[in-house]
Amino acid sequence: MDTNANWWRDAVIYQVYPRSFADSDGDGMGDVRGMISRLDYLRELGVDALWISPFYASPLHDGGYDVADYRSVDPRLGTLDDMTELIDQAHARNLRVFMDIVPNHTSSEHAWFQEVLRSDPGSAAWDRYMIRAGKGANHELPPNNWKSVFHGSGWSPLTDSKGNATAFWYLHLFDSTQPDLNWENEEVRAEFRDILRFWFDRGVDGFRIDVAHGMAKESGLPDYDYADGEPELLGDQPHAPFWDQDAVHDIYREWRKVADEYDPPRVFCGETWVPNPERLARYQRPDELHTSFNFDYLQAGWDAAKMRKSIDDTIANHSKIGAPPTWVLSNHDVVRHATRLAPGFDNDTRLTCEVDAERGLRRARAATLFTLTLPGSMYIYQGEELGLREVSELDASVRQDPAWHRSGGTDGTRDGCRVPIPWSGEVASFGFNSGSSSWLPQPADWAEVSVAAETGVEGSTLELYRDALHLRRELAALGKGPLEWLDHMSDVLAFRRTAPDGSSVVSIINLNNATVHLPATWGNEVLISSSDDVALLNTGGEDVLAVGPETALWLRDAG
Ligand code: BGC
Repeated sequence: MDTNANWWRDAVIYQVYPRSFADSDGDGMGDVRGMISRLDYLRELGVDALWISPFYASPLHDGGYDVADYRSVDPRLGTLDDMTELIDQAHARNLRVFMDIVPNHTSSEHAWFQEVLRSDPGSAAWDRYMIRAGKGANHELPPNNWKSVFHGSGWSPLTDSKGNATAFWYLHLFDSTQPDLNWENEEVRAEFRDILRFWFDRGVDGFRIDVAHGMAKESGLPDYDYADGEPELLGDQPHAPFWDQDAVHDIYREWRKVADEYDPPRVFCGETWVPNPERLARYQRPDELHTSFNFDYLQAGWDAAKMRKSIDDTIANHSKIGAPPTWVLSNHDVVRHATRLAPGFDNDTRLTCEVDAERGLRRARAATLFTLTLPGSMYIYQGEELGLREVSELDASVRQDPAWHRSGGTDGTRDGCRVPIPWSGEVASFGFNSGSSSWLPQPADWAEVSVAAETGVEGSTLELYRDALHLRRELAALGKGPLEWLDHMSDVLAFRRTAPDGSSVVSIINLNNATVHLPATWGNEVLISSSDDVALLNTGGEDVLAVGPETALWLRDAG
């Protein structure tokens, strides 16, 4: 394991969604030993770390983000010993390990919430959650108008252990099986500091923090004016009394002290859905989180102006506080970017995804290659290195996203990016396990996009990712070099990054659906490109760099 304590500042981190990664025991659900068996694959891919989505004991009403016991491994996924082995084996391969902590809410099966059901109003158990008396003559109305981001009311009536109604309601900004914790309660705060230490002591290098913009609620729990915006899946409404409250920063100051007790210090990345890059940067102040996901960039789509604005705003706001930005194009909550960036995709088609898949993949490859050259760290989501598309054709009977169920099947697209990974072979489960079962069905055409099918194949998306990740490590300019825009024409973004040793790399993306001619003076050696449509030409006596439609490349001057 290298000893660079600043590894996270420009790392590439691979997100593993454990249930869908690799299944060692054939029950159709990925597990910890499956992950261990694929660590060599990750090392060869060229990533620096993995972030593992929750694997804790959970009733799986929200894919594991409903945690019943934060100090355990779900028995369907393995044991604590397996997890310790995974951390050790990852470290032996020089891969860091991020876990996922879910502090906004617990599962309703967590011992604390079960204690609520057995306790009286006003008890210490009740104070750990957001429980309030209902409005109306018989308390038959919720305490305020907050909605769940999974649809419906954000409050459910609290019943006692015998199922009898009480006058009280509990808040759940997500599913009704995910009661929100009361972060003004000191016991809650102490418990989470202790959970952090439990895993840090086992060698975990850091945590991704779920709903990091949640936790603190505006005092008095005032109604929200939903005219400002309906809840999105992960809610980043401006001025919502339940998101991005200033008090949340006090919690992170406490957590940072815990992380800094360790050598090397442990690292945090917040899942912060906030309205703009300025609000995002506040989470990265020197005594708070090291990094946060930058969803502004993810939401910029295939739009040169929005991408450029997002990049500029993000870098400017982060540089004020000396923190590195992060970049991400896909994760377990959003439509895979090979589909999301395709012509024909818009939010209304999220559930059908009838798009131009070929151009979607072409754009996704270009977007990834370009994004990998931005300063800071980058997250990639399992399967994007294979160019996997969103599986939108899932039957209602197999869908598990709680937003699907709570919206009556009109929303809840998150199962389509969680279909188990194809590793090899001609028939499902495509090497996900040694049998044919997988908790979500895989499309028949995934034989063509398995790891085995793409390995060693020139031009495959897997080989593009491998080449790009290895090259990114070698090029000093992509580590620390500042970014300088090279202005040229609309729908082309190009910048140069220059390392302290003077070496430089130019990164270009052509978002047009046509070839563009760019100055050949930007460089004469194409290091890598997302399509074959790149050439240095001499037209009419003038040297030009011809870049094909929807293509990205890295260029340098070889003298
Ligand atoms: C996670 C989701 C989860 C939600 C509630 C998110 O931000 O990424 O998968 O459903 O938090 O925990």
